[in-house]
Amino acid sequence: MKTVIITGANSGLGFECAKNILLESQDYFIVMACRNIEKAEKAKSELIEITKNENIGVMQLNLSSLSSVREFAKDYEKAQYPPLFGIVCNAGISNSNGGTTEDGFDMIFGTNHLGHFLLTALLLPLIKGDGRITVVSSDMHNPPNGLIYPGVEVLADPDSEINDKYSQSKLCNLYFTYELTGKLSEIGKNITVNAFNPGLLTDTNFHVNSNRHFTEEAMKMFADRVGVLSESGKALADMVTKPYYGEHTGKYNDRGKEIPSSELSYNKENAEKLWESSVNYTKLQSEETLDGLL
Ligand SMILES: NC(=O)c1ccc[n+]([C@@H]2O[C@H](COP(=O)([O-])OP(=O)(O)OC[C@H]3O[C@@H](n4cnc5c(N)ncnc54)[C@H](OP(=O)(O)O)[C@@H]3O)[C@@H](O)[C@H]2O)c1
Repeated sequence: MKTVIITGANSGLGFECAKNILLESQDYFIVMACRNIEKAEKAKSELIEITKNENIGVMQLNLSSLSSVREFAKDYEKAQYPPLFGIVCNAGISNSNGGTTEDGFDMIFGTNHLGHFLLTALLLPLIKGDGRITVVSSDMHNPPNGLIYPGVEVLADPDSEINDKYSQSKLCNLYFTYELTGKLSEIGKNITVNAFNPGLLTDTNFHVNSNRHFTEEAMKMFADRVGVLSESGKALADMVTKPYYGEHTGKYNDRGKEIPSSELSYNKENAEKLWESSVNYTKLQSEETLDGLL
């Protein structure tokens, strides 16, 4: 048995991903890493009821708090679950969630990128054999009207006045994916890192929480960007369980199909600067992560 940590597994895509892994096999132990334990326990009961598989644990994690992320990593190590195999960086918030994290960073950048950056870095040493990191990005890293990357300082600053913070955070997810892929290859680790786009899902809490409604006309306009929750949940689960993603790394999977991400997302200089700043912002020490990663 091996452990897969899924952030934000209490609802939407994370829940569907957990469900599909549990339905497929008894070989995985799912740790639902969620900010609200009550919601997570309720979702855990639903998952057991649906899948008849009890290989699930719940742990508290607030990605917008770097101390919560550090606490999670410590508690996870103490919990002595089966060996760590996978991390699905799924939790995310939309443009309607403004504000500042307790560490002083922009809430969207802090939650969608920085929290997952630190979480992954702290947990990597616990992956002893093969492993998989799957990062849920979005095709909104490449919005219909294009995107200009303003640099990491602007994104981290809660007072910066840009209106595409969500898209920028999903671009950061890709910079992180590609930079981590390179660094793991350099140090010879057999841990793959791949990114995923579930497509526009109107039936998760994501748009409900942001009070966003899609008219029939809008859905027609974005038809090629629409995802189906059950299918995207299965496709994401496949990235954890199917052999292919143990052999391929640094890829972008769009609803089950590997495609290139935007040209901007392959900008190495941006990715390197984001990595460097993320290390500084999180005060990540080389002894806290894999040897040679920093
Ligand atoms: N829905 C879409 O159209 C769409 C499209 C492309 C990509 N995505 C991506 O898909 C992922 C999942 O979204 P979803 O559609 O499934 O939305 P969702 O139902 O709102 O799920 C988001 C999850 O993230 C959790 N979360 C939010 N802030 C957190 C924090 N600070 N710490 C820990 N967990 C936190 C939420 O917890 P609570 O339940 O406590 O709020 C929830 O479990 C996100 O990364 C999103 O960017 C979604």
